[in-house]
Amino acid sequence: RHSPTKMMIDGHELASKLYHHVLTLTEEGAGGREYAKSRKFTKEQLEHFQIGFAPNRWDSLKIILDKRGFSLEMMAKAGLLGIRESDNGYYDRFRNRLMFPIWDNQGKVIAFGGRSIGSDKPKYLNSAETPIFHKSNTLYALHLARPYIRKENAAILFEGYVDVVAAWGAGITNGVATLGTSLTQEQAKVLRRNAENVTICYDSDRAGVDAAFRSATILEEAGCHVKIALMPEGLDPDDFIREFGAERFKTDVIGASLSLMAFKMRFLRKGRNLQDEGERLRYIEEVLREISSLKRAVERDHYLRQLADEFSLSLEALKQEQFQLYRAKK
Ligand code: CTP
Ligand code: MN
Ligand code: MN
Ligand code: MN
Ligand code: MN
Repeated sequence: RHSPTKMMIDGHELASKLYHHVLTLTEEGAGGREYAKSRKFTKEQLEHFQIGFAPNRWDSLKIILDKRGFSLEMMAKAGLLGIRESDNGYYDRFRNRLMFPIWDNQGKVIAFGGRSIGSDKPKYLNSAETPIFHKSNTLYALHLARPYIRKENAAILFEGYVDVVAAWGAGITNGVATLGTSLTQEQAKVLRRNAENVTICYDSDRAGVDAAFRSATILEEAGCHVKIALMPEGLDPDDFIREFGAERFKTDVIGASLSLMAFKMRFLRKGRNLQDEGERLRYIEEVLREISSLKRAVERDHYLRQLADEFSLSLEALKQEQFQLYRAKK
């Protein structure tokens, strides 16, 4: 007999093949195809990411797993099946959802993210932690993106599965995503092992901007050079690509990404009238605080000079001001 881990992975591999088959070749997949079409997924995207569809039934996967001799109890532990309370029977956990396989580093399917195609909640149903799936050290699509991440010495970090898929359609092959959680230290280390540079391209909403700051800090602590890509308010990468196209995404979003400090300065500047002396001074003070928190002296010097230039201040005055802020803090 095979080990439980091996059987859980085999169950996922089988499920992935079934879901992909259903989506691409069967009558039962019509709803999924319609949804995929509405999201503008191409055949190439559906194939590359092995996207599938879980039929709107309670027993599609269950029957196949059973026929192939899988222990249903184990498949429940693996997160593919649920157990009914009324009669302890098994049922398909993923139903009527567009299915995104999640792979381990060897490219084996170990989990799924299932997108509701209608009004079913939650919007995304994700596999829970299991013996084969550890969210905190897994990144979506890493095994597909890894050769490109290594070649370019750079990764692009997205928030959602669909963003990775849309970016790939736009020619960005080094994209990965977290799995509905914030970036962990382990995920940052995994990225750092493959590349020095990471560009964060999260949704341009409040949650995305907050998360970008947190992820940037974690990535820097892991030793990555971090940049942050900006999009018009309210859009996510998939929205942007659909609205403005691949070329503008590459040049105006990824190509125009900012260093963390530049991003912070942009953020602090928002909604401020820098023509007003009081506001300008408060802005300078806040930027000085951020500069003080930089670890490397060369970086502090770089941004102090930049600030001095922009507001026609002497470097001496800024340094003195920074010293006083520092003393006030102590
Ligand atoms: N997510 C989740 N559960 C939810 C909502 C989101 O796990 N109920 C995770 C998913 O991994 C999703 C990511 O968080 O990909 C980003 O969330 P969001 O921006 O809301 O979703 P999108 O990726 O934009 O998905 P879509 O375009 O399909 O709405
Ligand atoms: Mn296929
Ligand atoms: Mn979001
Ligand atoms: Mn989004
Ligand atoms: Mn989206």
